[in-house]
Amino acid sequence: MNKHPSRMPQSSLELSRTVLSNQSGPHPRLARTVSRHLHSEFKRPVATHSERAYAELAASLQRDPRPLILDSFCGTGQSTRMLAQQHPQALVAGIDQSAHRLSRHQADHDGNYLLLHASAEDIWQLLWRDGYRVQHHYLLYPNPWPKGKHLQRRVHGHASFALLLRLGGAVELRSNWQLYAEEFGVAMHLAGRRGYLTRITGEPPLTLFEEKYRRSGHQLWCYRAGPAVTKPDE
Ligand SMILES: C[S@@+](CC[C@H](N)C(=O)[O-])C[C@H]1O[C@@H](n2cnc3c(N)ncnc32)[C@H](O)[C@@H]1O
Repeated sequence: MNKHPSRMPQSSLELSRTVLSNQSGPHPRLARTVSRHLHSEFKRPVATHSERAYAELAASLQRDPRPLILDSFCGTGQSTRMLAQQHPQALVAGIDQSAHRLSRHQADHDGNYLLLHASAEDIWQLLWRDGYRVQHHYLLYPNPWPKGKHLQRRVHGHASFALLLRLGGAVELRSNWQLYAEEFGVAMHLAGRRGYLTRITGEPPLTLFEEKYRRSGHQLWCYRAGPAVTKPDE
């Protein structure tokens, strides 16, 4: 997930091409890949800058325990700021690996949110290690990785997918590539997390990429699943 092919919307005139893929339907190895990852532990050394960013998040939660909302792959953090306004009781943590994107954030100084320069998978690992759980997890327009050979770089094809789900909470993924959102939905169903796929229309754009894709005439897709239901003996 961490090598990045798509570019930042630089100017308001720039338009985006629709996603082109050599896949015409869900990836033939989707079920096998997801099942393998659901039955294995994701462990990867955590980068020093991710550790540093996480320390800030953990300190904030210790100082003021609140429900945690994640905005993974937040880009400039526009959505993080808007989600924080929508969830005043929560702490919203936006995570992005690009310092450049984060530096373009337009701050709201009253905000109940943090922006973390980190790998999302690192932060997920550290939260899980320390027993933190998430109330809501937003995955807004992750890089599509449209070539079939890159299935394992997509969120649902990545080895960290099970970890993301273990953190709990309602999950919302948005994409301008219908097949990506469909594959994500299949992977969620395979993990026992049923949800629904819907089109996004009408609402004001939550992210810069959403705004750009709309302006470019793309259809926008959203997969939403409620929090996992835990059985009494779990
Ligand atoms: C297409 S952009 C979408 C940004 C934002 N959500 C939006 O919709 O405007 C994808 C973002 O994911 C970030 N990214 C990719 N892989 C990542 C990873 N493993 N951890 C953290 N950020 C990552 C990139 O730096 C980029 O900002």
